[in-house]
Amino acid sequence: MYKQFIRPFLFLIDPESVHNKMISILSGNRFYFPLMKALYEPPGSDTITVAGMEFRNRLGLAAGFDKNGVVLQFLDTIGFSHAEVGTVTPKPQPGNSKPRIFRLKKDSAIINRLGFNNQGVEAVKRNIAGSKVKLSTDFIVGVNIGKNKQTEIANAVRDYKICFQELFEVADYFTINISSPNTEGLRKLQDREYLNELLETICSLNDKMSAGPLKPVFVKIAPDLSEPEIELIFETVIQNKINGIVATNTTISREGLMEEVNESGGLSGKPLFKKSSNVLKKLSELNSENIISLIGVGGVFDKESFNQKVESGASIVQIYTGLIYEGPGIIKKILT
Ligand SMILES: Cc1cc2nc3c(=O)[nH]c(=O)nc-3n(C[C@H](O)[C@H](O)[C@H](O)COP(=O)(O)O)c2cc1C
Repeated sequence: MYKQFIRPFLFLIDPESVHNKMISILSGNRFYFPLMKALYEPPGSDTITVAGMEFRNRLGLAAGFDKNGVVLQFLDTIGFSHAEVGTVTPKPQPGNSKPRIFRLKKDSAIINRLGFNNQGVEAVKRNIAGSKVKLSTDFIVGVNIGKNKQTEIANAVRDYKICFQELFEVADYFTINISSPNTEGLRKLQDREYLNELLETICSLNDKMSAGPLKPVFVKIAPDLSEPEIELIFETVIQNKINGIVATNTTISREGLMEEVNESGGLSGKPLFKKSSNVLKKLSELNSENIISLIGVGGVFDKESFNQKVESGASIVQIYTGLIYEGPGIIKKILT
């Protein structure tokens, strides 16, 4: 029904307006959620434990859809095991100028250059705290954190520290985003010297703040890294006892597109599948002793591509663009 009737209508409207409308229709607790649950909830699957957290299934929502943690009840209702809120920055910020989201229909893809538009840590903390009491006890809320646009790269660690501290109480896990192509200089944090300092700081903060077991922490990387760069990141992650890697964010490559586009930003969806899976496979090779967990993201649109991510080494898989193109029925299709 989504692809035949709803999507053609939605795709007539500018992508960001549709997104914002959807977010406002689906935020909070709505009377039609029980109906959505009946329609979309996947059958129970085997649970999987990753970094000490028990996920009710292997499929979650990737960062960027619910930037402010306002549609968590909806995401729980339609059957995801988890959602990654964010990217959240210390201060609220509007992001880049519009238009900044573009659909590439022929390629089943999206280009975005949003630039971390979000309400900032304080508001996001309130939003998550407010909805957490209404979520299923087994729904996991991750928070993806980043730096403000104005923050110099040399001071970036401070921004991640603020986000970690402020959101510690409400986050079940953290993802450190060092791979968005839409914040100038951010991907420099993937370089060894920056990354080591960043991870050391977050880990010692985690030690100080956790009374019991440490808060699980993941690092999200780009699909455009060379093999030696992936190896260095893997080593740095292991050294700092990070729980895992989210592979991957959007790509700056435009290889293999059918549509001609001249927009800057990160490309997601089907054309990203191979590139992100190659990074995942490389990480999986390096991780032959299963020291860390891998989260596979990029171009998952159906059961087959989901299974391929798992075969490539992902314990958990996340989607974003697939949800936009296939609708909420995608979760049941993948998990049944
Ligand atoms: C519109 C849009 C906004 C995004 N915003 C973020 C973000 O704020 N932080 C982040 O780590 N990833 C962000 N992403 C990347 C996704 O989380 C995901 O890594 C990427 O889209 C690949 O998955 P997909 O092909 O299933 O969409 C965004 C993606 C899209 C399409």
